[in-house]
Amino acid sequence: MCGIFGYCNYLVEKPREEIIDILTDGLQKLEYRGYDSAGLAISGDAPGSALIFRETGKVAALKQKIIAQDFDRKALFNSHVGIAHTRWATHGEPLEKNCHPQKSDPTAEFLVVHNGIITNYQDIKTLLQNKGFVFESDTDTECIAKLCKHIYDTNIKNNVDLDFQQLMKQVLLELEGSYGMLVKSSHFPNELIGTRKGSPLLIGVKSDQKLKVDFVDVEFPDVSEQQTLSPHFAATATTSNNLLAPLTAHDHLRQSQSRAFLSEDGVPKPVEFFFSSDPASVVQHTKKVLFLEDDDIAHIYDGELHIHRAKKEAGDLGIRNIQTLEMELAQIMKGPYKHFMAKEIFEQPESTFNTMRGRIDFVNHAVRLGGLKSWLSSIRRSKRIIMIACGTSYHSCIATRSIFEELTEIPVVVELASDFLDRKSPVFRDDVCVFVSQSGETADTILALQYCSDRGALTVGVVNSVGSSISRQTNCGVHINAGPEIGVASTKAYTSQYIALVMIALSLSDDRISKTQRRIEIIDGLKKIPQQIKEVLKLEDTVKDLCSSSLNDQKSLLLLGRGYQYASALEGALKIKEISYMHSEGVLAGELKHGVLALVDDQLPIIAFATRDSLFPKVMSAIAQVTARSGRPIVICNDENDIADAQKLLAILKVPTTVDCLQGLLNIIPLQLISYWLAVNRNINVDFPRNLAKSVTVE
Ligand code: F6R
Repeated sequence: MCGIFGYCNYLVEKPREEIIDILTDGLQKLEYRGYDSAGLAISGDAPGSALIFRETGKVAALKQKIIAQDFDRKALFNSHVGIAHTRWATHGEPLEKNCHPQKSDPTAEFLVVHNGIITNYQDIKTLLQNKGFVFESDTDTECIAKLCKHIYDTNIKNNVDLDFQQLMKQVLLELEGSYGMLVKSSHFPNELIGTRKGSPLLIGVKSDQKLKVDFVDVEFPDVSEQQTLSPHFAATATTSNNLLAPLTAHDHLRQSQSRAFLSEDGVPKPVEFFFSSDPASVVQHTKKVLFLEDDDIAHIYDGELHIHRAKKEAGDLGIRNIQTLEMELAQIMKGPYKHFMAKEIFEQPESTFNTMRGRIDFVNHAVRLGGLKSWLSSIRRSKRIIMIACGTSYHSCIATRSIFEELTEIPVVVELASDFLDRKSPVFRDDVCVFVSQSGETADTILALQYCSDRGALTVGVVNSVGSSISRQTNCGVHINAGPEIGVASTKAYTSQYIALVMIALSLSDDRISKTQRRIEIIDGLKKIPQQIKEVLKLEDTVKDLCSSSLNDQKSLLLLGRGYQYASALEGALKIKEISYMHSEGVLAGELKHGVLALVDDQLPIIAFATRDSLFPKVMSAIAQVTARSGRPIVICNDENDIADAQKLLAILKVPTTVDCLQGLLNIIPLQLISYWLAVNRNINVDFPRNLAKSVTVE
């Protein structure tokens, strides 16, 4: 749940202060991944030395700390390695000692920035403590830095001269859990290692030379050989001191499996490399990126990037293409808005249009999803569709489940990824599992995906981040094309996920004559959605007044909805609690009389969704139950004339009418605005609410 950023130049002269700016700017674009502390390491004046800066709080605090320090900012480097980190605490409180980079020893022979969790770190720590290492932090990351030193020293003692990537291969053999990490070392000046397993890491390459990726596969030891070369910690930690027999010179020669990015003629040329957890932080420097896969070890030296494998898996084709990002820097800036969340709410007319762009033929009422085309018949043959997601993405599945079932006539189950895994729910080869995720990096969803893939189910991704783990690991899928979402509270991703799921259902049902009329109605409805969202956004001033006059000082809020609007109630409640910190609950209106009614009095604010659909009379009866108990609900409806006893209500928010299954796309907008204004009025940092991170890359 952290962000890592690294910068490495070769034959491109840069003053130290510019390198610091590159690193801190990169971190600021990653702050949505975690923001309780930050740190960075750059080269010092003496060869191999490092300057390390770490500070609790946001990257701005780190920048202030660096400004206050005395060092030569103008020193020029044409070959240099810097690593940086923004943290969201998992092991250890947000204290300076727990900030990254973590170091191997007081002189910082090895420095590590890390995203993820090392699950066997206690074993490694105990073992290294027994070897005399003194730990300063509460982090799992510190054990990686110290392990690097321990393995390095052991090999040197045995006259084995390992290069940086060979050393890292030995280190990685001992680590369990997940990581995206960068390692800098005084023993390998101007070299950088980046490696990942379960956490995203990509490399931006900026160079005038033509880019080329080479592959050189050499013999690699099998697993049993690896284990004898480097006994597993967990097995040895409790029982013996027999740690890490070093590789012999002969062994490590056989161990290299190398792929390289080189200049075409082999003559070194100026080049800069940017390592990051997210393309959004490198796009201002270069659009040429290479996404690392799990178990890749990227090694930079002398302006070359070599990619090695930590272990050789069957079926690994070893192809790592340099891709060109389509993202524009302007897309990730706030524009005229005070917060990313506001920008993203107001972008929805455009983002929903982009989700449909080029995919819906509104004249012929046809939907074409390139990423699903060759899989449609397999999906249609499935016995069951399981939609799996977390948080807001889960709500988009709830919102569309009913139309999915109606159009496809395939039973649909919606699962929270964590609960699905806890239950080890049965999955079969003829199931289709749909994974919905804005980031494509949510750990629970990725684990559920791996679980379903292992059981032979067909997997479909519905993802915003191109190149993310979920988009790469699913058999097929649809990108929602909402553009980068930076605000921690998901807004535009929800409406785009919703539309993408409806488009999938439309696409799956285009061979069903009986559904033709319904499909035409929905496609016509989709066409108007961007414009209708624009209409709803005009409610902002009314919402602002309502928040100030009636909601700001409340402790709790209930949202009532049923049918298609149950998802709006759940999603509205999640938005309110996560950014305004007000307790809020989405309740199925039909459940009101089974307990929740006891909460109703003339104080508790209640918002009810009463737009026109087949369940409208039932929702009106729930509203009557509330007003009969002196409750004064706020009602979201299509027309005030629809609502009996309107004088008993606190307020009416009117939204345009669309097809029943699309109405949630419009009804959620006032709730996004309410949550935003409640948070702003409470002086909460809307884009970075406490205790939350944008991308939840831990279980
Ligand atoms: C709420 C929110 C979270 C995410 C959830 C899943 O506003 O953003 O609930 O929806 O963490 O994240 P993704 O969609 O990236 O898998």
